[in-house]
Amino acid sequence: MSDAPATLKFGDKDIGMPVLSGSVGPDVIDIRKLYAQTGAFTYDPGFTSTASCQSAITYIDGEEGILLHRGYPIDQLAEQSSFPEVSYLLLHGELPSKAELDKFTYTISRHTMVHEQLAMFFRGFRRDAHPMAIMCGVVGALSAFYHDSADITDPQQRLIASHRLIAKMPTLAAMAHKYSVGQPFMHPDNRLSYTGNFLRMTFGVPAEPYVVNPIIERAMDRIFILHADHEQNASTSTVRLAGSSGANPFACIAAGIACLWGPAHGGANEAALNMLREIGKPEHIPEYIARAKDKDDPFRLMGFGHRVYKNYDPRAKVMQQTAEEVLRELNISDPVLDTAQELEQIALNDPYFIEKKLYPNVDFYSGVILNAIGFPTEMFTALFALARTVGWVAQWNEMISDPEQKIGRPRQLYTGATQRDYVPVAQR
Ligand code: CMC
Repeated sequence: MSDAPATLKFGDKDIGMPVLSGSVGPDVIDIRKLYAQTGAFTYDPGFTSTASCQSAITYIDGEEGILLHRGYPIDQLAEQSSFPEVSYLLLHGELPSKAELDKFTYTISRHTMVHEQLAMFFRGFRRDAHPMAIMCGVVGALSAFYHDSADITDPQQRLIASHRLIAKMPTLAAMAHKYSVGQPFMHPDNRLSYTGNFLRMTFGVPAEPYVVNPIIERAMDRIFILHADHEQNASTSTVRLAGSSGANPFACIAAGIACLWGPAHGGANEAALNMLREIGKPEHIPEYIARAKDKDDPFRLMGFGHRVYKNYDPRAKVMQQTAEEVLRELNISDPVLDTAQELEQIALNDPYFIEKKLYPNVDFYSGVILNAIGFPTEMFTALFALARTVGWVAQWNEMISDPEQKIGRPRQLYTGATQRDYVPVAQR
């Protein structure tokens, strides 16, 4: 706590409020007693100035374009680590020793199968159901299968639920894909890596052996690392809010998936590739830039802009390099990558985007890679959900163990009708 509290002049009173400092980043003014002291609430739609919790997991400096998980820069993790290792780091706070990582990887591999009855849920969906619609349903349905890990007051049960969620998401996402293309579900093969297993369950068929391509495996693992956590974003805040009532972890993650689906959040990867395809040729770019700048046109440049980053999203940098590497190594020439690179250059030199500090975000280049790997566009957000699950469970665990945790319950500025008497229908 800082020595110099903030003072608010409200009416004729001076209200002192403590100022709290984290390990790095802006101080926060502690307004918890404000209502008791003044009878007034604060107003902050979209939480643009409000810290909703304390967290020691992820730090973002949006002005500098820095993203740290447990202190480690995202580019170092993407370059040198693996998704299971980053998962361990997010959950436990430290990088694992070799023995700890082996044990963690083994534990996750023991939870990759889903109950056979869960497969029946898929048949209830239309063949053309969006994978995110399926994911919302089947992840929520896990609550009905794992009563033995639903006591959120028991840290051991919370850990088991976390392992189950991390392990089963690839299986469920792959099943959503298989269902849509009419191929049989593939059971996990636990001899493979987390990411290799997912690729096989998605692209393999029982009739033939599937050989994991190490270039694709590495690129996919890197994409998972880049999406693993992002502090208090909309879906993570949704998971925390759902969890704050004591709801079970599977239901909370299903809530996070629902929030992630929107085009302003995780749905932007799908929307960005669709936009790049629609633009088609570099000569059409000026028309789309003009539309993005037009206040009367709801169109936005998808994969551009961020609530927190007012600089290049560090994840987008790694994503761009990975897109170039994957296309080169797979010997694919995709005009969409050329369109993306040219669009980026034009936007970065345009006064509108410069003034508003709008830069490419993680979703701008991810679609190009996922498309090259062979995923249909509708799967993109489901892949984001798969990778973000570890961040969600880490944040959920942190919240449950926080002694300051309370049910999340925002206030409002009421602007509706004041009290009035009911009028029977015959008299209206
Ligand atoms: N294209 C054109 N103009 C934009 C864009 C864009 N992509 N993003 C923001 N702006 C403008 C916006 O119109 C506003 O202008 P003004 O001040 O004149 O009203 C200004 O920039 C600030 O935008 P905002 O909507 O107030 O900012 P926000 O922090 O509420 O929204 C955002 C952040 C990510 C929702 C927004 O930038 C956006 O809609 N981007 C496109 C969707 C996207 O790529 N989302 C993925 C985000 S990163 C991955 C994730 O979190 O899931």
